[in-house]
Amino acid sequence: MQKKTVADIEVRGKRVLLRVDFNVPLDFYTGVISDDTRIRASLPTIGYLIGHKARVILCSHLGRPKGKIVEELRMFPIAKLLSSLIGLPVNTAHDCIGEEVQSKVETLKEGEMLFLENLRFHPEEEANDSHFAQELASLADIYVNDAFGTAHRTHASTVGVAKYLPAVAGFLMEKELEAMDNLLDDPERPFACTIGGAKVSDKIGLIQNMLKRVDILLIGGGMAATFLKAKGYEVGRSLIEEDKLNLAKQSLALAKEWRVSLLLPTDVAVAEEIGAEASTRIVPITNIPPSSYIVDIGPQSIKLFLGELGKCRTIMWNGPMGVYEISQFAQGTRALANCLSTLNATTVIGGGSTAEAVQEMGLTDKMTHVSTGGGASLRFLEGATLPGVQVLLDKAES
Ligand code: 3PG
Repeated sequence: MQKKTVADIEVRGKRVLLRVDFNVPLDFYTGVISDDTRIRASLPTIGYLIGHKARVILCSHLGRPKGKIVEELRMFPIAKLLSSLIGLPVNTAHDCIGEEVQSKVETLKEGEMLFLENLRFHPEEEANDSHFAQELASLADIYVNDAFGTAHRTHASTVGVAKYLPAVAGFLMEKELEAMDNLLDDPERPFACTIGGAKVSDKIGLIQNMLKRVDILLIGGGMAATFLKAKGYEVGRSLIEEDKLNLAKQSLALAKEWRVSLLLPTDVAVAEEIGAEASTRIVPITNIPPSSYIVDIGPQSIKLFLGELGKCRTIMWNGPMGVYEISQFAQGTRALANCLSTLNATTVIGGGSTAEAVQEMGLTDKMTHVSTGGGASLRFLEGATLPGVQVLLDKAES
C-alpha cells in the first residue's frame, strides 16, 4: 500500500487520535448492538497501539444526529462493548472536544484508552470546520484513521484533522485498501463482478468502472429490471428507472464491444406484493405478468450465475440478488453467498447489505474479504479517490 500505516511510525508514549467507524446497528430502546463486526475489525489497530504503549483517544460517529445531542446515540454502550471485547477498561468523555476532554487526555497513561463522545453531536464535524478539526487535533500528537467505512466523507475527523497532525492508516484501513486495490490493479483471471441491489442509479458508476476490468459481469437484484427493459422485455410492476434506460443500453453495447460476458437473469421469482406474507412463482423473463414485481432471480439464473462464477479466480460481489430481507425472496442471494464461500478463488464482498447477508449466514470467515464500508467500497470501486485516504501520508513522505 502507498500510504503510511501505524506500523511505520513511533507511537510509544504518544497521544494518538484514532478515528474508527463504530457506526454499528444499535437498538435505540435496549442499547443492544446487533452486529459488532466493525468494532472487532478495528481491534488489531487498537491492540497494536495499546501494546506499543500509546495513549489512545478513540473517536467515531454513530448514526445521523444532525449536529445535535441525541441521548440514544451516545457512544457509552459501544465503549462498554469494546472494553469487553478487548478485556481492558475504556474511559469515556461527555464530549469530543473541550476542557473535560483535555483534562481526561492529560491524565491518560501509556497503554490506556479514552473514548470520545459522538463526533456528529457537533455540526462542525460534517461541515469539516477547520476550528473544530484543530480542537480535535490539539488532543493528540498523531492521527490514525482506521475508519474505512467513513473514508468517502469529507468531515473534520476524517479529513480536517490531517492538516494539523501526522496522519497514517490503521490496519483495517490498510486491509480494506489492499483488497480493493488488488481488484482494480491486478486481479487473477477470469475476474467476475456480480452486481445487484435495488437501483441502477446507485450502481451505474460501479458498472461502468468494472466493465473495463472484468471478464464476466452478472447483474441481478431489482436493478436487473431496468436492464431487462432496455433489452425489450416487459417487467410487470418492477421499478424501472426510465432515465437510466440509455445507460443500461450503453453498458450492454460496451460489454459486447469489449467482449465482456454480461449476463442478466433468464428467469425470475415474481410476487403480486412485496411483503412477508407474499408467495412467489418462477417465470421466464419472456413471461413476467403485468401485475407482478420481480423479487429475486430464478433457479435457472442461479444455475447460470453459479456456473460462471465457478470458472473464476477473482470475484467481487456488490448488492443482493433480490429483496433478501424477506426470506422467500432470498434464494438467489443465499445461493450466491453459499457458492462464493466454497470457491477456490479470491472473493471480495462489498459492504452494506451484501456484507449483512453474508454475515447473517455466518459466512464472513469463508470469504477472502468482506468490506466494513458500504458507501466507501462502492465509491472506491467506482474509481473515486476517497478523501479520507488521500490526506494520509504516503510511504515516501516524512
Ligand atoms: C456507514 O455506515 O456507511 C458509515 O459509517 C458512514 O455513515 P454515513 O453514511 O452516515 O456517513
